Amino acid sequence: MLRAENLTYSRLNKKIINDVSLDLVPGQLVTIIGPNGAGKSTLLRILTGYLAPDSGRCLLQDRCLSQWPHLELAKIRGVMNQQSGLSFPFSVRDVIAMGRAPYGKHKLNQQAIDCAVEMTECGTLLNRNYNQLSGGEKQRVQLGRLMAQLWHSSPEQRYLFLDEPTSALDLYHQQHTLRLLKKMTRGAPFSVCTILHDLNLAALYADKVLLLHQGTLVASGTPKEVLNTELLTRWYQADLCVCEHPESQGLPQVCLKR
Ligand SMILES: Nc1ncnc2c1ncn2[C@@H]1O[C@H](COP(=O)(O)OP(=O)(O)OP(=O)(O)O)[C@@H](O)[C@H]1O
Ligand SMILES: [Mg+2]
Repeated sequence: MLRAENLTYSRLNKKIINDVSLDLVPGQLVTIIGPNGAGKSTLLRILTGYLAPDSGRCLLQDRCLSQWPHLELAKIRGVMNQQSGLSFPFSVRDVIAMGRAPYGKHKLNQQAIDCAVEMTECGTLLNRNYNQLSGGEKQRVQLGRLMAQLWHSSPEQRYLFLDEPTSALDLYHQQHTLRLLKKMTRGAPFSVCTILHDLNLAALYADKVLLLHQGTLVASGTPKEVLNTELLTRWYQADLCVCEHPESQGLPQVCLKR
């Protein structure tokens, strides 16, 4: 598992992350929510080792993140950032194949790529120039790249970190992506940690919701425990109400008031 202990990160005399501790365990889909500027992306960058905390530490399978060799890490841990730009005109096929870079010339690379393309339904995009794709298509291809990267022929502990992976997706692809992520956590020792602004998606698919506000973890628990009118009104300052999903009993759905 990944364990974060007392993470703190400040810039320009401002505490961006304030004493955050959390565990990401296999078999769980964890979502990080919170208002703009709460520190979600910064926290994800610390959890993935792209930023070093000022104090505190992240242990991945009992080893400090900074002590993991990059190649070894890349075989079990994938990351999608909020913006994923590429300045060269790669084809979609090339971008997804990049996911296999950590494995060198491995005999299972093609199988991994085929599997990733199928899982993310990117087949019709393969010959397109990545830079010419729409925002939502790019997000799907980036997920395809990560699925290729983390594909293994035998069950192994793997970690996927995603920063708003559905922000540009239509309803079909939002559902398809979250169903896929959920399925991944059920079939193997797979851990997903994703930032989402769509609280209704978080409600439907998350095992655990972490609510970040001004760098502090102010609530954590099941969707039902965290996504309630009182907590959301307090931390988002939005005029809203929470009702029950009409088909999935006990799952909250958030409605803005007019
Ligand atoms: N390097 C930096 N220097 C100064 N301020 C920074 C730096 N990085 C982030 N911040 C500030 O820290 C706060 C948290 O930023 P972060 O990107 O983590 O927010 P977020 O929760 O992901 O927001 P959003 O929902 O808009 O994506 C913001 O106020 C941002 O301006
Ligand atoms: Mg962000």
